[in-house]
Amino acid sequence: MGEVEKYKGFKAELAIAETYEQIKAIEIKAAAIAKIASDSKMGKKEQDEWGEFRVQIERKKGKWLKEKFRKRGTGSNQYKKVEKSETTTLADVGITKDESANARLLLNEENLIKEVTEKIKNSKDVVTPNKVSNEIRKIKKEEEKKKESEKRKKELEKYKESDYEPQKYPGLFQNVCKEFIDDNSIDHIITDPPYPEEFLKDWKDLSEVANRILKPGGFCICYSGKIHLPEVISNMTEHLSYYWQLILLHTGSFAGVHPVKINTMYKPILVFYKEPKKCQDEYITDIIHGTGTEKYDHEWQQAEDELKQILDRFTKEGDLILDPFAGSGTTGVCCMKNKRRSILIDKDYQNE
Ligand SMILES: C[S@@+](CC[C@H](N)C(=O)[O-])C[C@H]1O[C@@H](n2cnc3c(N)ncnc32)[C@H](O)[C@@H]1O
Repeated sequence: MGEVEKYKGFKAELAIAETYEQIKAIEIKAAAIAKIASDSKMGKKEQDEWGEFRVQIERKKGKWLKEKFRKRGTGSNQYKKVEKSETTTLADVGITKDESANARLLLNEENLIKEVTEKIKNSKDVVTPNKVSNEIRKIKKEEEKKKESEKRKKELEKYKESDYEPQKYPGLFQNVCKEFIDDNSIDHIITDPPYPEEFLKDWKDLSEVANRILKPGGFCICYSGKIHLPEVISNMTEHLSYYWQLILLHTGSFAGVHPVKINTMYKPILVFYKEPKKCQDEYITDIIHGTGTEKYDHEWQQAEDELKQILDRFTKEGDLILDPFAGSGTTGVCCMKNKRRSILIDKDYQNE
């Protein structure tokens, strides 16, 4: 049988398929043909056609899942069968969480499928269900980021021209601080310097600058990486003293640190101070609870609710906080919302 006949035959089969087993059988055959098509270097147009058909199979699976399973809670067995029977969870039917998520995504995003499929067809890539769903996820993530970023901007409007609106300075913090920040004028520094080795010199500069501009007893609190932790501590204690290490516990997935084969679940937050030592008023715990990633305004953006936990423990209303590596300005946003004044510096800010 020629490719076109096979394709037509499967299309008719898919139209009348009702059970998961029937849909799965068509999916397996179509995937096998797509593999043969790719191995035998069939033309891109035909391969794309098979890919589009496989997307339709996923959508049919999504429809079946929608009819048979309803979301009830979270976790691996979050979908439960609508009618009671022996097979009550996705795992009982042999469907993985990812498989279910992909099928449901493709079912719900008909318009994006068209947009994405056209884009792939006009590129060197071949259409496959995975490629289509990955591209859709990217688009939706970007849309989500834009929405969050707009939301943050709107929230900030309220604080415009108040005492708590951050003062922003473009440039290297070394130069900006020299020119604009007086000795003993900053209550605390809260910041997130870059972690790679080539920035270790900046940590040393930070220590020197902080010792000049912090009020006596002021804290310099830094998010830190782990690979160069000994050098970071050594550089920071050239001019400041070590106070404590807080642990920011990540939620959900972990990041793999390949040179040491470690799946890490935490980030150190190092606390230094300018002599003399002055403790915060209350006893505090040293765990910061992760609230999930927020990366809509900056690749390395820190989460606002995590930063608030630091502000609450170490600073007071009205304090003047400096962030010399401010990025998207999370420190400023959090300070504004919690009645702290702030100065933000970043080399990437544009002159206004
Ligand atoms: C890790 S990011 C900070 C992200 C920030 N915590 C947020 O929530 O968006 C570090 C920032 O430091 C800036 N930077 C690096 N070296 C700098 C320097 N010497 N002076 C000022 N800014 C610097 C980079 O442009 C980058 O935006």
